[in-house]
Amino acid sequence: MKVPHIGRYPVTRMRRNRSNHSVRRLTAENRLSVDDLIWPAFVIDGKGKKEGIEAMPGVERLSVDLITEAAQEAWDLGIPGIALFPYTDPAKKTSDAFEALNPDNLMNAATRAIRKALPEMMIVCDVALDPYTSHGHDGLLRDDKILNDETVDVLVRQALVQAEAGCDCIAPSDMMDGRIQAIRETLDHSGHEDVRIISYAAKYASGFYGPFREAVGSGTALQGDKRTYQMDPANSDEALREVAMDLDEGADMVMVKPGMPYLDIIRRIHETYGVPTLAYQVSGEYSMIKAAAMNGWMDGDKAMMESLMAFKRAGACGILTYFAKDAAKRLKEG
Ligand code: PBG
Repeated sequence: MKVPHIGRYPVTRMRRNRSNHSVRRLTAENRLSVDDLIWPAFVIDGKGKKEGIEAMPGVERLSVDLITEAAQEAWDLGIPGIALFPYTDPAKKTSDAFEALNPDNLMNAATRAIRKALPEMMIVCDVALDPYTSHGHDGLLRDDKILNDETVDVLVRQALVQAEAGCDCIAPSDMMDGRIQAIRETLDHSGHEDVRIISYAAKYASGFYGPFREAVGSGTALQGDKRTYQMDPANSDEALREVAMDLDEGADMVMVKPGMPYLDIIRRIHETYGVPTLAYQVSGEYSMIKAAAMNGWMDGDKAMMESLMAFKRAGACGILTYFAKDAAKRLKEG
């Protein structure tokens, strides 16, 4: 009996281009490099002080002296930037977030120290009021409402003290309308025309920020949620509109946050505008991978590298990730 030929030998064997490391290297469409990474770090008051964060195993809050050393380590690994977040003493939190404007607050002290040690490192400073408000919101609150324009007036002053401390990347994460333009104008009028603005343009009201709120101590304080100013996870066209507005107002780069559940948004922004687009792999994404790895449910290093590569594939030019140092070490090892 004649054995039928059809279908026995595939004309194209996709597996040939996967058969060894050399050919996989040659045909790789995207590459992850240490150049793509920004390391988010938490600052705490004191000297020689470090504190673990329960919901983020492996991440620590560091006092200014230690964060400067840690920034040096990151820089030595080749990481081009650090993003700073302060844990503010609850006694310094007020409803008007006055501490945000203190030129000597933790954020500004850390910025000054890192800038002195590492003149070339990118220092990304978050602009938003939540680490400083007694109610945990990113803006000023009156009668259960977050006030837009009044908040922008404060954000502008917050951005200015950060620029004066030596921050070269102002990163508004507050989601108030019109803040990019207001900050741009203020920076330009005060001799800081070279300070860039990385706008958290598409920031969603997400459940993935939980561990971060423990890290900066804003979670227990938070009254209600942030859905009246952060984006609805159902929306995608709206993200493009946010980006268009922020670019128009003078943003140099835009950011999507969270990262992994929003790769489609990164792709759409990248294709529509072709502007430097960053992904923020947020605290909850870090903790998910970490927790599963710690339980032996998956290979943490593998999941980490794969998740970072996914951002590149989606079109991100850079990634804020709590894995930055671990990933940089892995990349160095090859
Ligand atoms: C707040 C801010 C948040 C994060 C960065 N800036 C939390 C929030 O909006 O409640 C979250 C980052 C993370 O989860 O890693 N302005």
